[in-house]
Amino acid sequence: MIGVFDSGVGGLSVWKELFRELPGEKFLYVSDSGHCPYGPKPKEEVIGRATAITEYLISRGADIVVVACNTATAAAISHLRGSYPIPFVGMEPAVKPAAINTRTGAIGVLATKGTFKGELYLRTLHRFASNARVIEQVGEGLVELVEEGNTDTPQAREIVGKYVRPMVESGVDHIVLGCTHYPFLEKVIRAFAGEGVEIVNPAPAIARRVSQVLEQLKGQGKVSAMNMGSNTFVTTGGNLELLKRMVGDIAPDDFETFIYNTIDL
Ligand code: DGL
Repeated sequence: MIGVFDSGVGGLSVWKELFRELPGEKFLYVSDSGHCPYGPKPKEEVIGRATAITEYLISRGADIVVVACNTATAAAISHLRGSYPIPFVGMEPAVKPAAINTRTGAIGVLATKGTFKGELYLRTLHRFASNARVIEQVGEGLVELVEEGNTDTPQAREIVGKYVRPMVESGVDHIVLGCTHYPFLEKVIRAFAGEGVEIVNPAPAIARRVSQVLEQLKGQGKVSAMNMGSNTFVTTGGNLELLKRMVGDIAPDDFETFIYNTIDL
């Protein structure tokens, strides 16, 4: 089973790519909406949430855990890898492809405060983006818009415009979505970025990585090669209806077979 978690519904942007890549697998997605957002929380608190969720996923049979949250990856992935004997695949802002492909020499990165402070981000910046001008913007308020289902509203346009317009004015030709909630705002981001700007979402690359790891586990006989595909979504918050609606919006037609639940964690 592939366990997937995020501070909320944002990680569904990753599950969407995972499901596309591995439609026959068994998924359990945890939306930690009861404790969202992670971005402004101290690192120790995010590690605490990531640990509680990982233990739940392992107790339900997870063979791999996908940390579908940039903030939780930044805060907790080394701790998780050091604590549990299963593979973890995390998120990382896609600064590398943006820095390699930029023609203007300027790239924008939208992420949470926690992600920008993470060692992984700083290391990636240093290794791959020293040739580029990197315009960083904390997407304050964006996670809340997605968690409230307000992705196509005047309020969303106002906040997104405040962040994206200055990036475009300073010449970026790539905007990296460094938080898994932000793909749900892509339409509004695109409206301000214009057609000439590449919006970079690392989720498809993460799904390919998970597929490779799963193949390795199957090759080693650690997980069964045969599986009955299923998709279960649980939330720690009171937003089961939003979770269902968002899955319904992004899933193919057979999503009626999916299971939804609220849990205490
Ligand atoms: N989806 C999370 C991420 O990728 C959102 C963080 C938050 O809850 O603030 O960073």
